[in-house]
This record gives sequence, C-alpha cells and structure tokens, in this order.
Amino acid sequence: MIIKWKDEYSCYDPVIDAQHKKLMDMINQMNEIIELGDEYDHFDEIVSIFEELKKYAIYHFSHEEKMFEETGYDSFNIKIQQLEHKSFVHKVAGINLYELDENQIGTAKEVLDFLSRWLDKHILGTDKRFGEFLREKANQP
Ligand SMILES: [Fe+2]
Repeated sequence: MIIKWKDEYSCYDPVIDAQHKKLMDMINQMNEIIELGDEYDHFDEIVSIFEELKKYAIYHFSHEEKMFEETGYDSFNIKIQQLEHKSFVHKVAGINLYELDENQIGTAKEVLDFLSRWLDKHILGTDKRFGEFLREKANQP
C-alpha cells in the first residue's frame, strides 16, 4: 500500500498537514526505489532514507506532542498519541540491517507497507481527533 495525500487527511492545522505530506513524500521516495526492479545494490540508499524518515518522524511527533501540552489536550488522548508515535519509531528503528541487506526490496516493502497503513490509520483517527479538538477550541467564544 502506498499512501497519497487526500483532503480527508487534513487535520485543520496547516503545519501538521505539511508535516504529514512530507512524511508521505519520504515514503513515496522509498517506494520509487522498490519499484525500480533493477539488480543494483540499493542498501545504502534505503538505509539513508529510513534514517531520514526516522529523524523527521521524531521531529514531527515531538512537534505534535508539544502542541498537545500547549493546547491542554486531555491526558488520555495524549497517552494514545504517545503510544502510537512510539510504535512508528520502533518499527523504523527495529529494522534488521542484515535482513535488509539480504533481502533489500522485500524488507523495505514490508516496512513501507506497515508505515503507510500506520500513517493512514493514525491521521484519520488519532490526529484528526486532535484537529477537531483544535477547531472546536478556536470556535469557542
Ligand atoms: Fe500524531
């Protein structure tokens, strides 16, 4: 599964939306390598994209988590967000590099599939709930 931006993904916050788009761009960049279907060694390239993706995801999640605190989001939803964010980072950090080297396309595909599904579910559920909270807060007198 490859993830592409659609309006439904909007969380009503331009910064969060832009960051989500960037995560999707990085996922799509990885997908381009997978789809090349050539015989070349892509190990270094794949590792560096996953490294960038991990770094950017950590930056994005900490941005969101800072916003939860600043806007007084409730602790139950903050906990859910934190746990879900951790599972994304763990997935990328937990890639077995030996396995990746042996089976570059297969392993990259499996991780990418996980991340795409995760992002789709997380944005439409967990992040959108926060977006709605922000919107309601902004509309309060
Ligand atoms: Fe989130």
